Amino acid sequence: MDKKEIQNLRRQYTKGSLTAKNVSKDPFKQFDKWFGEVLKSGFLEPNAMIVATSDKFCKPSARVVLLKGINNNGFVFFTNYKSKKGNDLEVNPFASILFFWDILERQVRIEGKVEKITKNESDAYFQTRPYKSKIGAWASKQSSVIENRGTVLKEFIKYMVKFKNHVPLPDSWGGYKLIPASFEFWQGRPNRLHDRIKYKRKKNGWKIERLAP
Ligand SMILES: Cc1cc2nc3c(=O)[nH]c(=O)nc-3n(C[C@H](O)[C@H](O)[C@H](O)COP(=O)(O)O)c2cc1C
Repeated sequence: MDKKEIQNLRRQYTKGSLTAKNVSKDPFKQFDKWFGEVLKSGFLEPNAMIVATSDKFCKPSARVVLLKGINNNGFVFFTNYKSKKGNDLEVNPFASILFFWDILERQVRIEGKVEKITKNESDAYFQTRPYKSKIGAWASKQSSVIENRGTVLKEFIKYMVKFKNHVPLPDSWGGYKLIPASFEFWQGRPNRLHDRIKYKRKKNGWKIERLAP
């Protein structure tokens, strides 16, 4: 592909608009409304979100995870607590999550503090996973360097033999919950004059502001 081909990729955004008046006063309700529309729009992974963390040297890294629920006002995802992201969150519990729903020309940014959910909550979700996904959680020391694919396949078989029926929750696996301090809802508009509505948490409720595109 030549450079110009990338440079010339551009579209006009025309699918919607946002004003401080037509959004909900509660960002969770606004998220719920948009997510409902996302579910009707034919995305392959509607609940995929990018989670950005940073390590002890303040170096950021981002990856996709799946939103698995909104629990006590926190956005919940599941992962390996000893993974790169898990280690990052150990030293810096602040993170940012981002949804980009291109069919709807929308982006949502959420920032806040991350906590582990309880072991009981993690176990309740873990037990709903298919057998082989549960085994996979035992077999993969997520983010560690491995010799080849065989390394993890050998572990997979080892744990299938070990746990023939009930698969317990691994100690190093579970949920995190990001508790938002802010939300930003972005709706693409023509001529790059996009609508951006930001919510900042106040003592009681949320402050709503419009940001320049
Ligand atoms: C569509 C999609 C969904 C994913 N969902 C998850 C998930 O829910 N949990 C998870 O730990 N990794 C998930 N991953 C893999 C992560 O992007 C990442 O590779 C992994 O968590 C290791 O990241 P880390 O080394 O930064 O900790 C997903 C990847 C994609 C592309």
